[in-house]
Amino acid sequence: MVDSVEFTDIRIADETIEDVVDVLESGRFVKGPLVEQFENRFAAACGVDHAVGVSSGTAAILLSLAAAGVGEGDSVFVPGHTFFASASPVLELGATPVFVDIDPETYTMDPDALATAAAEVERPAAAVPVHIYGGMADMDAIDAIANEYDLFVLEDSCQAHFATRNGSAAGSVGDAGAFSFYPSKNMTVAGDGGMVTTDDADLAENIRMLRNHGRGDEGVHRRLGLNYRLDETNAAVGLNQLDRVRDWSEMRRRAAQRYTDRLADVDEVTTPWVPVDVDHVFHLYVIQVPDREALADYLSNRGVDTGVHYPTPAHRHPAIVSRVETPELPVTEALCDRILSLPMHPRLTDEEVDYVCAAVEEFYR
Ligand SMILES: Cc1ncc(COP(=O)(O)O)c(C=O)c1O
Repeated sequence: MVDSVEFTDIRIADETIEDVVDVLESGRFVKGPLVEQFENRFAAACGVDHAVGVSSGTAAILLSLAAAGVGEGDSVFVPGHTFFASASPVLELGATPVFVDIDPETYTMDPDALATAAAEVERPAAAVPVHIYGGMADMDAIDAIANEYDLFVLEDSCQAHFATRNGSAAGSVGDAGAFSFYPSKNMTVAGDGGMVTTDDADLAENIRMLRNHGRGDEGVHRRLGLNYRLDETNAAVGLNQLDRVRDWSEMRRRAAQRYTDRLADVDEVTTPWVPVDVDHVFHLYVIQVPDREALADYLSNRGVDTGVHYPTPAHRHPAIVSRVETPELPVTEALCDRILSLPMHPRLTDEEVDYVCAAVEEFYR
C-alpha cells in the first residue's frame, strides 16, 4: 500500500559504480579517454557533429555564448520563465539579458514576443530558448526570427535530454545546445556536469579551448579561459546513463500520461499541454492550480513531495533586478503563482501516481 511518494528517485546501477572504481584505480581523473567517448556518443545520440563536455549546464551556457562572441553591449533574449542560470551567464559576459514572455500553453519562449523584442533593441545578438520541463520550444518559428536578426541561437536543453520536436532533438536545431547533468536531471553524472552540442566545428574548438584555460593544442593560452572541464569519473557515469536515458524518458512519459488521464476530471487542475509534434521527456510534471500553497500542504501531509519550478520569474531575482530593466511579462508572472510540480521520475509506479491523483481529487472535493 502506498502512503508516501518521493519527488524524485536517483539511483546509480552497480555496473556504473564498477566503471567509476576503474577510473579511480587508473589514477587518470581528468583529460582522459572517457570524456571524449562520452562526447562522441552524446553527439551521435543528439544528431550533431560535436559535443564538448564541461563542468555544469551553467558552464555550457556561459562558454557557448562566450565562444559565439557575445559580450558587452549585446542583447541576449531569454524567456522570463526559466531557471536563473539561463540568464546569469549573459550578465557574467557583460551582455544584457532581454527577458521575453512565454507561450501560455507550452511555457516556452513566445516567438512573437521574441520578434517584438528583437525589433526594439539596439544590438540583438543571441537568443536562449529554454526547453522547459522537457518539452521543446517552437524552434522553427524562433529560427526564422533569428535568421532575420542574425541571432546566435543557444537552446537551453538542460531539462530536455533527447526530447524532440518535428523529429529533431533538443540541442540539434539552433547553433548550439546546452545540457546539464545535475543529479535530478533526466540523466546525470552523479555530480555536476554539462555538455555543449553543435554542428559548428569552430565553435566546438573554441569551447574546448575556453573550458581549459583558453589553451590551444600547442600549449599556448590563446584566449582568456578558466577551468570548466568535465572529469573522468563523471564521464564514466554519463556513458552508463546515456545507455538508459531514453528508456527512462519513456517511463516518465507513461507516468505523465497517467497523471493527465487521472486528473482530467478535476476542473481546478490544468495539466501540461503537449503539442502533437513534441516528444516530451517530462523532466518535470507541472500542473497549474488556483491555490498552490494549500494543495502543496495537503499533499505534504499525505506524504507526497512536491516542488515549484520556479516561484520567482528569472527577471525578478534581486541579482538581475539590480542590473537590468525588468519588463512586465504577464504570462510568465501569472504562471509562477499557479504552478506545482508533482513527483516525477522513471520508477514512479501506477499506484503512486494514483495515490497522488486521489489526494488531489480529495482536496478539491
Ligand atoms: C533550464 C536550466 N538552465 C540551466 C541550468 C543550469 O545547469 P547546472 O545546474 O548544471 O549548472 C539548469 C539546471 O539546473 C536548468 O534547469
